[in-house]
Amino acid sequence: MKIAIPKESAGGENRVAASQDTVKKLTEMGVSVVVQKNAGAESEISDEMYREAGAALADDFASTVEKADIVLKILPPSNEEIKALPKGSCLVCLMNARADLKAAKAVAKAGITCFAMEFLPRISRAQNMDVLSSQSNLAGYKAVIDAVSAYKKAVPMMMTAAGMISPAQVLILGAGVAGLQAIATAKRLGAVVTAFDVRPAVKEQVESLGAKFLETAKIEQAETTGGYAKELDEQSKKNQEEALMAVMPKTDIIITTALIPGKKAPLLITEEMLKQMKSGSVVFDLAAEQGGNCYGTVYGKSVTQYGVTIFGQSNAASALSAAASPLFAKNLYNFILPMIDREKLTLNINFEDEIYKASCIAKDGQLLIGENK
Ligand code: NAI
Repeated sequence: MKIAIPKESAGGENRVAASQDTVKKLTEMGVSVVVQKNAGAESEISDEMYREAGAALADDFASTVEKADIVLKILPPSNEEIKALPKGSCLVCLMNARADLKAAKAVAKAGITCFAMEFLPRISRAQNMDVLSSQSNLAGYKAVIDAVSAYKKAVPMMMTAAGMISPAQVLILGAGVAGLQAIATAKRLGAVVTAFDVRPAVKEQVESLGAKFLETAKIEQAETTGGYAKELDEQSKKNQEEALMAVMPKTDIIITTALIPGKKAPLLITEEMLKQMKSGSVVFDLAAEQGGNCYGTVYGKSVTQYGVTIFGQSNAASALSAAASPLFAKNLYNFILPMIDREKLTLNINFEDEIYKASCIAKDGQLLIGENK
């Protein structure tokens, strides 16, 4: 059995889908692992480290994936790369198929069996495979660090002989994986933190981190059975907007993370709200790729609106690639392990298992994205 680890070709993508540890575990099992040269360079994993872990190195994408049974990647392959993937091989990566079906359709047409990690079900058994969680956690941390760097005042309260600095007021919108880490990071820096989420279970989690939960008038029950958020009804949106409007004048930094799977991100910070904020305030919009939670967010850029700096930078986890890659790699390792017959070293995928059933988006030339995905 051969497992291939190509170098990511998308601009700004610094991560790699295998670590020294996961390569070692696979080669010790008897699997042949081929890593494209320099694949780990941006994650501080040298070719030498992969070689020590038992991998062979290949010069380019085509020679890396040649005759591979499994190809592990971070992001969807390009059209050129799809042409080089062996027919019948198994591709495991984020396909971003909820936003764009092009790559998914092309891999299906090419006869690749494709597992899109964004479709992993949110069940306990799949937690150690969940790349969205491991990467969102780092993104939440990085968003606070970047927002604080751009903020021209200190974050903690400081009492000095020359006077007092008040603590920064930080607001976190969406308290899922990224949001909870953002709360914890802002608290560690000494900020006064308020947070809000539409899922009722979150209040207790927010408070257990020492943050205040933003009180609003009634918000409808907005959680799906799968643990994700639903879009709010009009009255609930209005109630949320009123509560946010009231805290804008005293808020210094906002981190927004609110997402609704398969939908454009909800607009939470309106133009009117931005106008209420103090000049010099900072918003980091982690939902920028899905359309943004903040008025004026530009995906991939930082812009200034009414004196407020708004970050719409993408892929915050990639900026922490040396931490993000080993976690991503371990998630993928945990995902593929049950697919491998360790005696015969062949692929043995149980497509009836809900983990593999939900995440498989292409098989036998068919695209498997329908109503429920
Ligand atoms: P996400 O990235 O889809 O969304 C981020 C947050 O935005 C969510 O908490 C959502 O409720 C919130 N949101 C949506 N609309 C909003 C609005 N209008 N205003 C404010 N907030 C809004 O979600 P994420 O972070 O990936 O996870 C959500 C939950 O799922 C968490 O409780 C997490 O622990 C759980 N989870 C469970 C997993 C498992 O059991 N395998 C794996 C991943 C997450």
